[in-house]
Amino acid sequence: MSTPLPQNGRPRPDNHVIVVFGIRGDLAKRKILPGLYHLAVAGLLPDDYRIIGCARPPSAMTVDEFREYAFDAVCQFASDKPAGKEWSDFAARLNFAIDPDDGPQSLATAVATAEEEIGGNVRRLYHLAIPPDAMQGVISLLGAKGLQKNARIICEKPFGVDLASAVKLDAEITEYFDESQIFRIDHFLGKESIDNILALRFANELFEPLWRRSHVKYVQIDVPETLSIEGRGAFYEGTGAFRDMVVTHLFQVLGILAMEQPTSLTARPLRNEIDKVFESLRALDPEEVLRGQYEGYLDEPGVAPDSSTETFIALRAWVDNSRWMGVPFYLRTGKCLAESRQMITIGLREPVMEIFPDQKNGAHPDANKIIIDFKDPGSIHAYFLAKQPGPEMALGQARMHFHYRESFQEKNNLEAYERLLLEVMLGNQSLFTRSDGIERLWEVAAPLLEHPSPVEAYAKGSWGPRSIEGVVAPNRWTLPE
Ligand code: BG6
Repeated sequence: MSTPLPQNGRPRPDNHVIVVFGIRGDLAKRKILPGLYHLAVAGLLPDDYRIIGCARPPSAMTVDEFREYAFDAVCQFASDKPAGKEWSDFAARLNFAIDPDDGPQSLATAVATAEEEIGGNVRRLYHLAIPPDAMQGVISLLGAKGLQKNARIICEKPFGVDLASAVKLDAEITEYFDESQIFRIDHFLGKESIDNILALRFANELFEPLWRRSHVKYVQIDVPETLSIEGRGAFYEGTGAFRDMVVTHLFQVLGILAMEQPTSLTARPLRNEIDKVFESLRALDPEEVLRGQYEGYLDEPGVAPDSSTETFIALRAWVDNSRWMGVPFYLRTGKCLAESRQMITIGLREPVMEIFPDQKNGAHPDANKIIIDFKDPGSIHAYFLAKQPGPEMALGQARMHFHYRESFQEKNNLEAYERLLLEVMLGNQSLFTRSDGIERLWEVAAPLLEHPSPVEAYAKGSWGPRSIEGVVAPNRWTLPE
């Protein structure tokens, strides 16, 4: 039996019927089902709840098949393996319905039955774990059946594929749902180490005074992945690395890194400050973007034989405000790369006067920086120069480390989706993106989407195309040790 996690005085969510669209997709299998199970085991789900999986007929399942499918997903991807009463209680609350596109009545009936079984006041939660072009159909059917009442809706990223489609999607959702019901999810905002940037910056005077152009030379946000597209060819062809990762996750991380201090951590002030960064973000210049495609991508199922979709992207972004003017933000991500990492590097300027004999001419390029490793469980490292012991004044590189795993109880950690699903059930929008911010990011992206730079091939297992160093020159990519 697992021990419930501490609630720290937070209320338990109201009873819920949770409907997951796209239940046969990669996301539901890797994150949503395992995440819901961990929340259940940790005692963070409501007193009573039902989870309805939804898919179209070729992927439809009987209830028993769905329970088996969920069991496999939890076995494979959850930290808590499914067993005993914890699993049987969870499994008993799973049900399956056909996507409303193909069977409008199936979902309405499943929701009504679930609500009856629970009784009393039950909230509805719809998680649209489906591609942007499939969302509209689901939303209008929910609306047509009156299923939007007492409901909250989670929309997966990317929200649209460009400015026009994002505006259109927003209009479709707001026809049935109020803004307070809409949760545009970007799961990087739910990562412990990304939230911790707020603590690092605004709970300490140690770092925040450095956090500006006078001290910072460059910032890197680097998310290389060893994963391939994992059979998601059809989805990936419509998104590519830029839409899948940059205009979404990496820009949100940039927003948290570059924002001013919010007046509080509640939704409006927090999101106002992040969106102000996006207002200051300069439109991307395709000349400052390197797109790559791994060798063999064209042979993946679902990929067009002449596809120019990028599986790798590295770019320079600029935040034109008084805090960050002139400081390059280097962003990089890609599939089938040498290592899977999630790292932010804050490269600090060299001191103006170089009084140490071996300090000249950039002799220590790797000193003088802060690295935030935001892959769970996360860590922070400060690199600096120190006097080496001995009669001479010789400098050597030194480090200070903070590891979540060593400093805090790791068992209290919630994976990003778990944290965010819980926040949705509690109605807290602080860690969710807003339509004005998203639309601004599509504006920033427009020059690249209209005039994409050509894709360069790279070998699987490498660090991307050969010309990658050019994106950060005269600086260098910080690679994991
Ligand atoms: C998803 C992308 O949003 O984020 C995937 O669609 C990517 O392509 C994933 O692999 C990375 O997130 P995490 O939290 O699993 O590292």
